[in-house]
Amino acid sequence: MQIPVSSEAHPTASPNFVPEIEIGLLAQSASISPKFLYDPLGSHLFTAITLLPEYYPTNTEKNIFIQYQDQIAHAVGIGGTLIDLGAGNCEKAESFFSSLKPSNYLAIDFSVEYLQDALEKLAGKYPHILMQCIGMDFSKRLIIPDTIAKKQRTFFYPGSSIGNFSSAEALELLSQMKSQTQDGGLLIGVDLMKDDSVLMAAYDDPLKVTAAFNLNILRSINAHLGSNFRVEQFRHQVQVNHVENRVELYLEALEDLTVSWPGKSRIFKRGELIHTEHSHKYTIHSIQQLLKNAGFTTTQIWTDPKDYFAVIYAQ
Ligand code: TRP
Repeated sequence: MQIPVSSEAHPTASPNFVPEIEIGLLAQSASISPKFLYDPLGSHLFTAITLLPEYYPTNTEKNIFIQYQDQIAHAVGIGGTLIDLGAGNCEKAESFFSSLKPSNYLAIDFSVEYLQDALEKLAGKYPHILMQCIGMDFSKRLIIPDTIAKKQRTFFYPGSSIGNFSSAEALELLSQMKSQTQDGGLLIGVDLMKDDSVLMAAYDDPLKVTAAFNLNILRSINAHLGSNFRVEQFRHQVQVNHVENRVELYLEALEDLTVSWPGKSRIFKRGELIHTEHSHKYTIHSIQQLLKNAGFTTTQIWTDPKDYFAVIYAQ
């Protein structure tokens, strides 16, 4: 089956990330964008993270979806267009197909190639759902094409990916969603603030899968930039920031070292950090406030017994 593809943000094969990577590496406090975590090995390592007992978000969200499937379907309504932001293997959205009975499914992700494979399999299983995919970096700007009916659009944004944005960026993205749905809404998964011990275990697991995932970003950067990062010269580091309410992920240099790439280089002192990801944790109150500021006026909230995670339908 042929899946219609619109490749808005990727008109050519592979975009040139070199300038963006250089800006981050040459800044006084070095950083690498978390999008570079998800190269082929990184994507597999992240899948492995979601299978770790310590990484509670994936399972907790899944259990909320299962337990409250009927209530969620009642809130969202049936037969509309489901717009999956960061669809990946489309598994989470598929778990709603039987209850939401969408007429249309639009899968959006960074890499359209990966999406197409997943959608082709799905389209065979659900021939009555019209499926489309778009390759788009919606963290920059979310634009749903006019060819997608504006009526009854439900944005689906699970996995607490919203937590990876600053509150200003999150507000911008949520506002863009709100302005691109009329009578529809947003079904979102949000990770909640909790004890440090639970957060530390989730982001620094004893099998060191998360460490491998974070360190692999250096190899991913070597591939893009032609740099000579050596993974063994760095260590995965996690901090919980209670002022900003977020988990902060870093790579710490274990010795003084120089990283070079064509035309440039950067010295790292022992102990110096490269920032890779922020994972903001909300309270029910703070996420409701954010949604309200983005223009959503009503929310329905489902949580797990430990209040680790919230699934919210906002309109
Ligand atoms: N966005 C995920 C999260 O915040 C990804 C993630 C899990 C992650 N563990 C990580 C990112 C470790 C960097 C390093 O939960």
